[in-house]
Amino acid sequence: MLWLIGSTGMLGREFSHRLSKEGIPFVGTGSDVNIADAEKLDAFINKTESASYYASRDVKKDNKIDWIINCAAYTAVDKAEDEAEKAYRANCTGALNIARTARSHGAKLIHISTDYVFDGSSGIPYTEDAPKSPINVYGKTKAESEDLIAQSMTQYYIIRTSWLYGFTGRNFVYTMTRAMNERESVGVVNDQKGTPTFCGDLAAAAVKLIKKETSATSLFGKKSAAPYGIYHFSNSGEATWFDFACAIYDFGKKYGRIGHECAVRPCSSDEYKTKAARPAYSVLDCTKIETALGIKIPSWRASLERFIKSGRFES
Ligand SMILES: NC(=O)c1ccc[n+]([C@@H]2O[C@H](COP(=O)([O-])OP(=O)(O)OC[C@H]3O[C@@H](n4cnc5c(N)ncnc54)[C@H](OP(=O)(O)O)[C@@H]3O)[C@@H](O)[C@H]2O)c1
Repeated sequence: MLWLIGSTGMLGREFSHRLSKEGIPFVGTGSDVNIADAEKLDAFINKTESASYYASRDVKKDNKIDWIINCAAYTAVDKAEDEAEKAYRANCTGALNIARTARSHGAKLIHISTDYVFDGSSGIPYTEDAPKSPINVYGKTKAESEDLIAQSMTQYYIIRTSWLYGFTGRNFVYTMTRAMNERESVGVVNDQKGTPTFCGDLAAAAVKLIKKETSATSLFGKKSAAPYGIYHFSNSGEATWFDFACAIYDFGKKYGRIGHECAVRPCSSDEYKTKAARPAYSVLDCTKIETALGIKIPSWRASLERFIKSGRFES
């Protein structure tokens, strides 16, 4: 049995979708089980594990939690500048509590982290071992969450990702689509580079990581499992927010999501000031996970087109 923490969030919902599609049994929690409160986590896992269910008429199964996926986090990047303590509690205390719970129950962990652990001064894609140097409160708490997990357990995968969008929740694709349907022009930052990433692609890769580990453990004594540690996952290629917005407009028009003429205008970060500083360049090098899983990650444009075309698109 798998425990999906943060199942009510944008990425968590996409994980739920993926796990259900693959027939993987799981339980999901949102802020109803506060990760900053170790006792709440313990109480939940103890209650879940002590229950058993009938998988079929006469096969009784235990609810032993053998994997935890943590999608829960304080994710309001700008608000975190004023709410550092709150962000720290969810992202650091929360991650530490989850790692301790996982270790004491013999469960393995997938924890989601971010490209914002880097400062953006690199001109080339960041590899997993590039030095972390976050430039905002959110990034600092996420960077520390990684260290806390690594100090607390060994059987973990930390997956750093970037610029997520998914079918539910607030995200750049929905925000832009709405704005482009209402306004004559939108100004979008053209001096920050990263990679837009579809939550569904990330969830699929993470589930592959779990399946590979699980089958390697039971069949071949772990030989073919991806080594535990940090991995990067984003769609391939790179874009500025302006490039991303232009692609949203083009695909939005193509698939009838935008029925209105709107000019997409590039602007600088100085023109569009935010409370938290953002890295100017946060492209992730994803070679390690591609090699470990034997996959080729789709380009951000191809995934964005599939997303906008999909019947699950809600805006
Ligand atoms: N969004 C991005 O662009 C992006 C980029 C890179 C990395 N990430 C990382 O990806 C992960 C998922 O992000 P997301 O965008 O899906 O986040 P999200 O939509 O904001 O969802 C956050 C989830 O965390 C839960 N949560 C928050 N505080 C909690 C607490 N104290 N105890 C228990 N649950 C709590 C929320 O529960 P409720 O719904 O009940 O409040 C929700 O399920 C995060 O680790 C984030 O740092 C995101």
